[in-house]
Amino acid sequence: MYFILPGFFYKIATTILPALCAIIVTQCLGYAQALNMDSLYYDAVNEELQLDQGDWIADIGSGSGSYLNKFARAVGEQGHIFAVDIDADSFDDLHDNMDSWDYYNITPVYSIQQNPLLPPSSFDGIMMRLAYHEFTAPLEMLRHFKNSLKPNGRLVIFDSMDEELVHLDREEQEDDHRLDIELAKADLEQAGFEIISKDPALFRHPQRDSLTMWMLVAQPGDQ
Ligand SMILES: C[S@@+](CC[C@H](N)C(=O)[O-])C[C@H]1O[C@@H](n2cnc3c(N)ncnc32)[C@H](O)[C@@H]1O
Repeated sequence: MYFILPGFFYKIATTILPALCAIIVTQCLGYAQALNMDSLYYDAVNEELQLDQGDWIADIGSGSGSYLNKFARAVGEQGHIFAVDIDADSFDDLHDNMDSWDYYNITPVYSIQQNPLLPPSSFDGIMMRLAYHEFTAPLEMLRHFKNSLKPNGRLVIFDSMDEELVHLDREEQEDDHRLDIELAKADLEQAGFEIISKDPALFRHPQRDSLTMWMLVAQPGDQ
C-alpha cells in the first residue's frame, strides 16, 4: 500500500495533470481566438462602413450571428440588422443569442440559395463572413446585393484561403471551405461592382501561416 500510493500520485502528477492542463489551455485559446475573430470582423467592417445610428445592415450567411450584438449596438434603435441564412437550424442559436442580448433591432431572414430576399435600394452595408465560398449561385447573389444596396452602400466580403491550395480549381477550394480572393474579385467585377479595397491577408492564422482571412470591399458600379 505504502508503495502503491506514492506511485499513484506520481502518475497523476506526471501524466493526468499535464494532459488536463493542455486540454484547458487549448479550449481557452480556441475561445480567445473565436472572440478575436468576432472583434476583427466588427472592426474591419466598421472601418469600411463607418457604421452609424440608423444604418440598415444585412449579414448574409449569419449562422448563429455571434458577433451581431456589436453591430446592433452601432446602428442603434433607429437602425436595423438583417441576419440572413438558408439554414433553418442556425436560427435556433441566433435566437438564443438574441435572447441574451438587449437588442430588438435584429431580424432573422430565412432566405433561399440564390436570393437573400432583401428589399431593393435599402441597405447602407451588406456583409458576410465565411459564407461567400458556400454560395452555389454567387453571381446571382451579387446581383441581388447590388439591387438591395443604396447607391453609396458598400459590400464587404470576408472569407478565407489557404495559400497552399491556390493551384486547386474553384470547386476543390470550396470543398475545403476556402476561396482565392482573386476569384471573388472577378465575380464582383462581372456583376458590375467597383472594387474599393482588397486585402488578401487581413489576418493570418497564428499556428498556420498559409491560412489567411481576406477582405474585399466594393460598391455598386455605374452599369
Ligand atoms: C461557415 S458559416 C458562417 C457563419 C457566420 N457568418 C460566422 O462567421 O460565424 C456559413 C453560413 O452561410 C450560410 N449560407 C450558405 N449559403 C448561403 C446562401 N446562399 N444564402 C445565405 N446563407 C448561406 C450557411 O447556412 C452557414 O450558416
